[in-house]
Amino acid sequence: MIPFIDLTAQFHECERELLDAASRVLNSGTYILGGEVEAFERDFAGWLGSAHGIGVASGTDAIALALTALGIGHGDDVVTSAFTAVPTVVGIAQSGARPVFADIAEGGYGLDACEVERVATPDTRAIVPVHLYGECMDLSALLDAAHRLGAVVIEDACQAHGARLGGKAAGTSGAAGAFSFYPTKNLGAFGDAGLIATDDGAVAGRLRKVRDYGRSCRDLFEEPGRNSRLDELQASMLRVKLERLDAWNERRRSLAALYAAELEGLPLEVPREAESGSHVYHLYVVATDERDDLQRHLEERGIAALVHYPVCPHLQDAFANLGYGPGDFPRAEAAAAHVLSLPLHPALSDTDAMTVAREVRAFFG
Ligand SMILES: Cc1ncc(COP(=O)(O)O)c(C=O)c1O
Repeated sequence: MIPFIDLTAQFHECERELLDAASRVLNSGTYILGGEVEAFERDFAGWLGSAHGIGVASGTDAIALALTALGIGHGDDVVTSAFTAVPTVVGIAQSGARPVFADIAEGGYGLDACEVERVATPDTRAIVPVHLYGECMDLSALLDAAHRLGAVVIEDACQAHGARLGGKAAGTSGAAGAFSFYPTKNLGAFGDAGLIATDDGAVAGRLRKVRDYGRSCRDLFEEPGRNSRLDELQASMLRVKLERLDAWNERRRSLAALYAAELEGLPLEVPREAESGSHVYHLYVVATDERDDLQRHLEERGIAALVHYPVCPHLQDAFANLGYGPGDFPRAEAAAAHVLSLPLHPALSDTDAMTVAREVRAFFG
């Protein structure tokens, strides 16, 4: 059996330090908004190259609260990708704004800047591109489009911790970047957790209030905020894991290189780094016309391969009220029909990766 992911392996790799961190917090008597959260926010923002980090309860909340802190909500439109994880859209909807979809670019999985301009409305106040699968998108055309539209860019970097293009980390080029530390992410907590990165001190200040009921100091509340705080236990353990993140991302890259070499020449699209370090392979996603048969072939041989994502958000019942239908975003819908994620995580052995590659080759004969 080759599972899709093995989360206990990461725990065992740093078990002693994680248990020490947990014990430190449990003995401290401070469980919410204390020194661990502050230290993690500082360390993670510094690691990204961002001025501020604000810990929140999840990546979904990071998107919603970033929009709120930038003054975007009811009556506003927010354009995002028609090919993303549903939580991107849930975060937008949670802010009160209306999600508006745009198709992805030809030959990739990133939001297309021309399509964004085509679907934008006079109410468009923000654009949420997604660094899908861990690949840092080139945002230059999108930032120009946002400027023309008078909109801000909030990057969904929930899958792309540490992916860098042209020296900039995913999540640091727009007004704010949203990160998730859901357990399966490249940097995963032991529960839900998220963070917003921003260079804007005023936005950071507002975020610190809105994540904490809208509180400005102990007994004063400036606006109706939310309860969405990263807790001390999660922060203490994320600090331990952050120290290993560069090495884990490097291991992901070397496994991706192994797959790329072993799958060369097959009728299969494989991911490639635009430049060294631009992809952190949160997921290793191939594309083929024979996706369902390939997935079945692997499953029959004990190899778990998953589809991220088989149903585009505009076709989900949850967003039926937005009025989209099949055929609205042909590239996104084609991607949903062709993509398959092969097992790839830092604890995957070369031997297991070779077995996966061999079975993929066997499928194509
Ligand atoms: C692209 C993307 N956006 C947003 C989210 C939401 O993150 P969370 O699960 O921490 O709320 C996720 C993860 O689930 C994601 O993959």
